[in-house]
Amino acid sequence: MPNRKRILITGAAGFLGSHLSDRFIKEDYHVIGMDNLITGDLRNIEHLFKLENFEFYNHDVSTFVHVPGDLDYILHFASPASPIDYLKIPIQTLKVGSLGTHNLLGLALAKGARMLIASTSEVYGDPNINPQPEEYWGNVNPVGPRGVYDEAKRFQEAITMAYHTFHGLETRIVRIFNTYGPRMRLNDGRVLPAFIGQALRGESLTMFGDGSQTRSFCYVDDLVEGIYRLLHSDYAQPMNIGNPDEITIKQFGEEIIKLTGTDQELISLPLPTDDPKQRRPDITKAKAILGWEPQISRSEGLKITLDYFKSLPEKEIHHKDFSYYNKNR
Ligand SMILES: NC(=O)c1ccc[n+]([C@@H]2O[C@H](COP(=O)([O-])OP(=O)(O)OC[C@H]3O[C@@H](n4cnc5c(N)ncnc54)[C@H](O)[C@@H]3O)[C@@H](O)[C@H]2O)c1
Repeated sequence: MPNRKRILITGAAGFLGSHLSDRFIKEDYHVIGMDNLITGDLRNIEHLFKLENFEFYNHDVSTFVHVPGDLDYILHFASPASPIDYLKIPIQTLKVGSLGTHNLLGLALAKGARMLIASTSEVYGDPNINPQPEEYWGNVNPVGPRGVYDEAKRFQEAITMAYHTFHGLETRIVRIFNTYGPRMRLNDGRVLPAFIGQALRGESLTMFGDGSQTRSFCYVDDLVEGIYRLLHSDYAQPMNIGNPDEITIKQFGEEIIKLTGTDQELISLPLPTDDPKQRRPDITKAKAILGWEPQISRSEGLKITLDYFKSLPEKEIHHKDFSYYNKNR
């Protein structure tokens, strides 16, 4: 059997975890996927099941985690990630960021593995500065509805850094800014699939407030490349990975309408509590330390993503359940 590096990827059946699994398989690693499928979908990785260098555990990482054999790396990507998901399952969100991270850090220590955690631009909360550099400490409401996600991720960073400084564990922290691409769920409440889903169903596109809030969207292949480089770098401090090409939500909606060739209108809904008004990564560090910057333009990435959504069965495009989200907004 070839002597492959062994990597555990939690959240492997999710959007980002499945793309990371593909990348590490391509690099000839032995990939151990782990997921409890709470927001993931086995269809995202079913093409990997036939491979000898892929295995999968259906397991909740917030409970004790064990993996037989050696481990060289752990990528901890398990966590509900969209507002709909973390408002629906707030306690699980807090647990996977805290208990789940603790369990995996313990596993990394026991195996002598290097661990990379998926943090988020949400640690900056509703930021007072734009773009956001890694040195910015954030503006987060711990007890607002988004606190369950934002504070879980802030705790995740803190405990990871504590294992690094106290135990000397090799750790990496990536702060991911809005990323998109194939395998996102149309009804997960994130703005990009929401807009595309509405356009494909012939509905009006709904933006929050007047749409003047900004976001910066990174195509998934660019993100995966940044994470791959960060994992193999010597850099243990948090690192922003995202696309600094900032756009207002209103302009973005107009772009989607143009791209889908539809003539819907953009309508306004009340702003959710603590919705960030601006989001743009400062990627000076990623450029200098990893030699990384995004390569895929929004128009290119959106075209690939739209083709993916169009290829879904008709009934999935029309399935939407926003009831829970609306109740909690
Ligand atoms: N996609 C983005 O734009 C973005 C931005 C910032 C951070 N992130 C982070 O990246 C990671 C992946 O996000 P995503 O967009 O792929 O979301 P996703 O929901 O598609 O994937 C998350 C996966 O984790 C699994 N999971 C959740 N709790 C689990 C648990 N307790 N045990 C095992 N598996 C569990 C889910 O079933 C799912 O497959 C998350 O940690 C998220 O916070 C994503």
